[in-house]
Order: sequence, then structure tokens, then C-alpha cells
Amino acid sequence: MTAPVSRDSLEELGTRVLPPADWRGDTKTPLDADTAFNGFISTHVVFALEQLGLFTWFDKESRLDVPDFCRTRRTDETVLRHLLSAAESFGYLTVTGDRVTPTPAWSELRRKIGFFTWGVGGYHDVFANAATIARGERVFGQDVLRDEGMVALGSAQADLALMRHLLDEQIAALDFSVIADLGSGISERVCRLVKSRPGARGLGLDISASATDLAAGIVGRHGLTDRVQPICADVLDVLFRGRRIEGAEQVDVAMSFMFLHDLLVDPSTRGDVIPALRKAFPHAHTFLLADTTVRPRGTGDTLPVFSSGFELAHALMGVPIYTREEYENLFREGGLHLRRTIPFGAPHTYLFVLEAQ
Ligand SMILES: C[S@@+](CC[C@H](N)C(=O)[O-])C[C@H]1O[C@@H](n2cnc3c(N)ncnc32)[C@H](O)[C@@H]1O
Repeated sequence: MTAPVSRDSLEELGTRVLPPADWRGDTKTPLDADTAFNGFISTHVVFALEQLGLFTWFDKESRLDVPDFCRTRRTDETVLRHLLSAAESFGYLTVTGDRVTPTPAWSELRRKIGFFTWGVGGYHDVFANAATIARGERVFGQDVLRDEGMVALGSAQADLALMRHLLDEQIAALDFSVIADLGSGISERVCRLVKSRPGARGLGLDISASATDLAAGIVGRHGLTDRVQPICADVLDVLFRGRRIEGAEQVDVAMSFMFLHDLLVDPSTRGDVIPALRKAFPHAHTFLLADTTVRPRGTGDTLPVFSSGFELAHALMGVPIYTREEYENLFREGGLHLRRTIPFGAPHTYLFVLEAQ
């Protein structure tokens, strides 16, 4: 089990930002064939158990009765028993007759479940089509799609388990009444931040209709329909094609999480993205921009969760990703002052705290 990122790893600009030790990961390379194959099956089993509600179940209960669970959840008992048996083989659960209990390994899966939702739920078709994409027989975005709702859900789960406390520390120090989250997914984060600040309001912009639909439900569940507005919009339309967002003038903190690279795909506008962001939110004094970066190579023979999937998925989609230094240069050239770079929970992921000058 890896340790959470500590306050000691938060370093002001001007000192070296040391990647947390747990970003080196626990997967020893080379992966032998047995581990690789079982890893593929186990990710699917873990994702299935998440979808069937077992992680939420064990958040509250210490055991599960299979027939009871199947009756109340309308789940096929034979299939569930096979999934549970596979999970037992992987060392995640103990099954004794009808009774199921989690093993100690379950809690780490729980902490990292967002990566399973992201990888299996969001990108299964992309990874499965790697060879056809490589041969040019299929093209991402035309014949091969990711499941955007699952990508957004997985990101929200990772936020909840790994990132939220780090963001909250930064937000607590900021003065704001209107925040905008760009590429906001299911708007869970913007809801949480608005809820924690009396009188504050929020906008969540996302290109995905399915994520925006999920966001509307989340906003309702938080009781924030009068304060948080999920908007289905292409942020590139806002930055470069004159789409106006009502309320953008009032935004004082603009944020984006795991999304900046999507704005930087086109090399001809890459250098204009930061200036265009500042123009789109002219009164924003702070930009909180977080993204996963390219994993530095040559740092040992282990791998962490997520990085290999993040890098391969984006390569298959034809979306470049960047090093931490490339991001920091982009901000400087775009006229934002980098106040702080913070290791942000998921491997090789940073939160950049930037001030408009
Ligand atoms: C990896 S998810 C991150 C979601 C959320 N920010 C989080 O951290 O939980 C990236 C999000 O960006 C959205 N997105 C991608 N391109 C976009 C664009 N051009 N405009 C608006 N949203 C976009 C996707 O639909 C997806 O919800």
C-alpha cells in the first residue's frame, strides 16, 4: 500500500519539486506473462465489482450475503459467484459459502478504483483497437470511441480518494465568489467547492453530453441547482471561436483538472491557449490547472498505477501529453505567474497554482 502525498512534498517554486516516492510504484518490471495476463483479467473483475456496487457496499458493511445481495440488487447469482470467486483468486475477497468479506488488499483497490473505471470503463475499446489504430484501419474519434461518462466518473473517483484534500488546502487560501471548472466532467468537484463557501457560485463546462447529464443529477443531489450550472460546451469554442458563456465575466477562480492537454492538441493554437483562457475569464485572479505529465524515464525498474495507461491511451487518440517543465514554460510564456507546483495525488500529476499578472 502506498502512502498518501504528505505536506512535506508540497514545495514552493524556487525549490526543487520532488516527486513523491510512491510515484515510483510497486509493479516490478519486466512483468512476467502470468502477471500481465492476470492483471488484464483482474482489472475487469474489479471494474465489474465496482459497477455491481460492491465497493460502496463494503464502505458501510463488513460482510455481504450473496443471495440477499442478488435478490435486492437484481443480480444473477451464478455470474456474481463466478466474479467473486475470481476476486478471491486474486486475493481481494474471502468467500465462505454465502458470506463474502474483503481482504486487506481491498482497501488499496478502493483508494485507486478511479483508475479502473477510467481504464476499463472509459478506454476498453481504445486499448482493444491498438493494432487496428496502428495499422490505420481504424481511427480514434471515428471508428473507435472512449466512454466519456466513464472517463469523467473515474476521474471523479480518483479526485475523491487522492486529490481532494490537496485542492482544498489551496482553495481555503483563496478569495472567490464564482469559480469555473473547465472540462468539469460530472461537476462533482465544482459542487463540493461551491458548497464549502457560503454564497459562492460555480460553472462547470464540459463537451460531453453524457457527462453533463450526469452532472445535472449530481448538482441536484447536492441541492445546488440555483448555484452550480453544468454547461455542455466545447472550451475550444469559448477560447477560439467566440462562444460566450454567461457569467464568465464574474469568474474569479478558473480551474481545470486532467483536461489541459485536450486544449493543446492543435500545435497552431497551443501557444495561444493560456492567453485565450485569461481573455475568456478576464477577472480571474487565480488559475488552478492540474494535469498528468509524462512519466520521467530511467528512474528504476518499477511502475506506478495509471501512468502507462494514461500515456498509451493518449498516444492511441493522437493527443500529445507533456512534461512538467513543458507546462511550466507554457504558463510563463502565456503570462501566468507560477506560484506553486504541487504533486497532486495520482502518479506524475501536478496541480499548478497560477496568478494572473
Ligand atoms: C479526464 S476527464 C476530467 C474530468 C474532471 N475534470 C475531473 O478531473 O474529474 C476530461 C474531461 O474533459 C472533457 N473535455 C474534453 N475535451 C473537451 C473540450 N474541448 N471542451 C470541454 N470539455 C472537454 C471530457 O468530456 C472529460 O469530461
